[in-house]
Amino acid sequence: MGNLVLAAKITHVPTIWMSHTIEKYKGLRTSALDGYEKLRQAAIAAKVDTFIVIDTHWIVNQGFHLNAKPRHEGNFISHELPHMLSDLAYDYHGNPELGALIVDEVRADGHRALAHDHPDLGVEYGTLLPMYFINKGVNARVLPIAANQFSTIDENRQFGAAIRRAIDKSEGNVALFASGSLSHAFWENSKSVEGVNKVNGAFNEQTDHHVLELWENGDWSAFLDMLPDYAVRCVGECGMVDTAMLFGALGWKDYGGSITTMTPYFGSSGTGQVNITFSV
Ligand SMILES: [Fe+2]
Repeated sequence: MGNLVLAAKITHVPTIWMSHTIEKYKGLRTSALDGYEKLRQAAIAAKVDTFIVIDTHWIVNQGFHLNAKPRHEGNFISHELPHMLSDLAYDYHGNPELGALIVDEVRADGHRALAHDHPDLGVEYGTLLPMYFINKGVNARVLPIAANQFSTIDENRQFGAAIRRAIDKSEGNVALFASGSLSHAFWENSKSVEGVNKVNGAFNEQTDHHVLELWENGDWSAFLDMLPDYAVRCVGECGMVDTAMLFGALGWKDYGGSITTMTPYFGSSGTGQVNITFSV
């Protein structure tokens, strides 16, 4: 019987890579890198053997998709931000078996789901950037899940619950990461350089802080009631479907756990970011 042993909402901003690789930006994202190290230690302590990463940069338009290749390897450059994120080499084993279990569970709910093993299907940086740091030395398998930009919060709640059932039916110790931001309003181009460490707008920043307060207080019901509006009004990254899936897997309003902050809230290029684990 498998177990969900680690659950987290995580950041993947390319400024982390700049902080790690470019002398001029050293120290820019120390707090995010420290959070990744804490997540790495948590994964080791929990004996994680597979990371499921809900990747808000693998954006799909129809149905639910998993990258269930037996192996993910390559060298990544971001097409969105090639000046920030390049030369990211990766090589991970995948988890086709867990991918197949998830597809079965999603289909049992009447949704369309596909697990892919096409050799040309790459992995996006919502998965690769955090995995580079968090999976270092853990060497766990990696199963990326796509975010459907036209799906509803409720569909993703169901998708998350299906993921949890599949994990329970599997053999492994699984970590589930929702890789995406809180508010996600990029700066207009002319402000992008000066705004590298800032959140775009008081409304977004204050709403993010309110959400984090609800999480801190375990007021899951109040948060989930506002999630659909929060996703729209604060320009959620791919509609915050990663957050909906994560909470679906945790039990939605029946969740009774608590959070641990690995990286406190920070602004990055207009967006609001954290690394936070949810007890399981
Ligand atoms: Fe992103």
